[in-house]
Formats: sequence, C-alpha cells, structure tokens
Amino acid sequence: MVRKGIIIKMKNKYYVTTPIYYVNDKPHIGSAYTTIAADIIARYWREKIGSENVFFLTGTDEHGQKIEQAAAEKKLTPKEFADQISPKFESTWKSLNVSYDYFIRTTDPRHEKVVSELLQKIYDSGYIYSGTYEGPYCVGCERFYKESELVNGGCPLHPNKEISYQKERNYFLKLKELVEKEVLPRIKEGEYKIEPEKRRHEILSRIELGIEDVSVSREGVTWGIPVPWDKSQTVYVWVDALINYYSATKFLDGKKDFWPANLHLVGKDILWFHAVIWQALLIAAGIELPKTVFAHGFFTIDGQKMSKSLGNVITPKQLIDRYGVDGARYLVISAVSFGSDGDISLKTFDVRYNADLANGLGNLISRSAKLLEISKTKLIEWKPEEFSPEVLINIEGHKLDKALENILVRISSLDKYINENEPWKKEKLHEIVVWDNIVKEIRQIAFDLKPFLPETTAAIEKQFEGPTIKSGEPLFPRK
Ligand code: MSP
Repeated sequence: MVRKGIIIKMKNKYYVTTPIYYVNDKPHIGSAYTTIAADIIARYWREKIGSENVFFLTGTDEHGQKIEQAAAEKKLTPKEFADQISPKFESTWKSLNVSYDYFIRTTDPRHEKVVSELLQKIYDSGYIYSGTYEGPYCVGCERFYKESELVNGGCPLHPNKEISYQKERNYFLKLKELVEKEVLPRIKEGEYKIEPEKRRHEILSRIELGIEDVSVSREGVTWGIPVPWDKSQTVYVWVDALINYYSATKFLDGKKDFWPANLHLVGKDILWFHAVIWQALLIAAGIELPKTVFAHGFFTIDGQKMSKSLGNVITPKQLIDRYGVDGARYLVISAVSFGSDGDISLKTFDVRYNADLANGLGNLISRSAKLLEISKTKLIEWKPEEFSPEVLINIEGHKLDKALENILVRISSLDKYINENEPWKKEKLHEIVVWDNIVKEIRQIAFDLKPFLPETTAAIEKQFEGPTIKSGEPLFPRK
C-alpha cells in the first residue's frame, strides 16, 4: 500500500501498548483495567503468531509539573520520587501476571534522546513556531484548557484541583494545519482506526468544532527534556510521553520492525492525545502511523466516581487477595462492555465470581475430573490448535467481554451435555464417545481462556493431559 510516498508494510508482527502511567499515583483498578486488557491481547497474539512476533509495552510517565509537585510534597527530587513509585507499577503488573515485554520509563536517557531527535526533526520541517500561550492549565491533566471547556471555572476531570492561569512563551505545533490537511482525511479514509465507533464520531465532531495549535514545550517547568534548539524550555510532558511508543522500538535491540504499533489501548479521557495529537506529531516527523487507537470507558464504584477522598478505591491487591490472580483478571474484564463506561462493586464481583468461576468453570472441571477418574477412561489425544472462531473474532475486534460471554455459553452447554448424557450412571460410565466429547470440549475451553486466565488454564491443561486423570482441588473456591 502506498500513500503520499510512505510505503506501508504488511507485517506478521503485533505491537500493543498501554498508556504510560503517571508516577504521582499508585496503580489502581483503572490502570489495571487497561493493562490487563493489553495483556490478554498480547497473550492471544503470542499464541497465534509466536512470542517472537509480539511486542507488549507498558511503563511510567515521569516528567512534568505534576510529578515535580508531587515529589516536592514528599521532599524528594523528582527522579528520587519516580524511582520509588515506578517499581510499584512493575510489581503490581507482575502480581497480576501481566506479561509485558518491556517496561519503559520516560527518564531513560535513551528515550530522552529519541524525543529530542524527533522534535528537532519536526522543527526542521517547519511545523513548530514560537508563540505565547495564555490560559487555564490543569496540572492534574497536564494540559491547557479553553475557558469554554471549564465547568464552574474548574477542570471537568479534576473539579477539586485548582486551575492555574499561565502566560508563557511556548513552542507550538501547527496542529490546525496538520489535522485539516493530513489527520482528518486519514481518519475519514480509515487509514488508522479509532475505536469504538462512537469515539471515532466524537473525535470527528470535535475536529469539526475547530482546532487550535498546541504547545509542545513549557517555559516554567524544569523537570523535563530540554528543547534541543532552545534549552530554556522543556518538552511538554504529553509530547514526551506519547513518543514512548515509538522510542522503545528505536532504542531496544531488534524491535525496529514492530513500528508502526498495531494497537494503542487507552482510557477515553486521553483519546484526543492519542487519536489526534500523536498522529499529527508523527505525520510532521514523517513516521508511519499506528493502526488502531482503542479507548475504553471509565469505571464508577457503587455509582460514584472512584476517588481517594470518597474512600471507595478498589486496589488490584484487594481483588487478588479475595479472588486470586485469575479471578481478579476475569472480574475486571467481564465487568463492563469493553469501550463503555460501567459500574462495579465488590458485591457484584462476588456474585459474578460465584456464578461464572466457582459454579461455572470450576464446577465443570471438578465434576468432569472426578467422573473421569472413577471411569478410568484413557483420555483422547486430540489437542486444540486454534481459538474458536467466535472467540477469535471478538478478541481481534477488541470485544474482550464478549469473548468471555462466548466461552461461558460453551461452559453451560457442556454442563448441559453432561447432565443429559448422565455418564455417571453405571451402564454409561465407560462410554468412550461421551468422554471424548467432554475432554475435547474442556481442552478447547481451556485453550480459548488462555489469554484471560493463564494460571488456571495451565492447571486445567496439565490435569487433562492424560493418558489418565486425577481429580483435584477446586479451582475457584466459593465466596
Ligand atoms: N500519563 C498519562 C498517559 C500518557 S500515555 C502516552 C496518563 N496517565 S494516568 O496514570 O493518569 O493513566 C491512567 C490510565 O488509567 C488512563 O488510561 C485512564 O483512562 C485510566 N483510568 C483512570 N481512572 C479510570 C477509571 N476510573 N476507570 C477506567 N480507567 C481509568 O493519563
């Protein structure tokens, strides 16, 4: 495929990213949501095209005013502060069995070098100019707002944080020109996708309302990467952060071929940066665009916004302690339709855990294993090699909760099949065909569930490996 002189390679590689998380906060269920979803997608592709062809990147966003301020409150330098928090993200993701291939930190000098080079390239192409910015700035979002976007004079996303008014000399990206001439046609032609569809519409309508150029540097912020042609300024933290997706492929050995990324997974609050500003920066630098940006929705807890002051924050650790790693992964992903907002609560998690995992999957496995053990049947050798078509379509279409629904249907159908065939009856206990069907179906269910429940499915596969079988402990004890 050729477009405006850029050759787009067709590649048998898959590159998925999460946002890089600010180190002013610890990992919570919101950041865990994006990260678990990315892990499921990475595991799916590893199964499909081999681990060496998949690259899964996550990391931390460590520069800017917000981190500078948070560090000062703790009487630490920003770097000392980031060094304390960043490992908490790594250990939380590990505790959730998140199989990232690389964890990037924006304070890594190799990343900083790529940021400088890329910005210099855009400057040399004439897409950056010097100007003055005046207006409201929310440090929580690390972005300027228009007066008209404020709600009751405050930030729409951080109503409790004070908005500061800033007037400073900045370097600006010619966003208006880039979007009108380059980004908009590419969105319309589907050269890169914005998903789900309703978010694509939101982005298109926002573009239609009119675009203003954006700052790519800050004058008063010292905690950042110096602007290469004017060391009195630092690179605006969002520009620095977005470039992580590209810089990792540049500075890590053997990763160059992974660019352009297949999928940036983000929350809906940061879609504009990923679907518009990031694309404009890449176009200005002459770099190929990522293929898809997918925005998921926001969780509320018991109907309320999750917040430290309300005391309703659910931590990944709380979920792991109560439901186990796979239970936590399952509950977070099945809670809401991927892409929409949704409400969660520990009470509904208990109900779903018991229904789907304890009584559903767990019970199916333990009753089948017990019966097979008694029957002394030799297990069939057949092993699944592919995902079921409906699971494949839903995972590749980023409908992760739907894929789980498909698997649940299979679990209850198999339960029904067992009830109808009554293989526990003396005269039927050795009916091979029925057992073969059950074992095949269990192995396919385990295969389909692999990306979602890596530990549990490994245990099921081992238990049902054959030639004979032993019953075991319940996979998901009831709550
Ligand atoms: N540092 C930027 C991203 C830069 S990427 C180049 C950032 N960091 S963040 O730590 O604030 O990111 C949080 C992520 O968690 C975002 O994807 C956000 O949408 C998500 N969530 C934060 N709260 C959430 C909920 N209550 N529900 C679901 N996800 C939410 O933004």
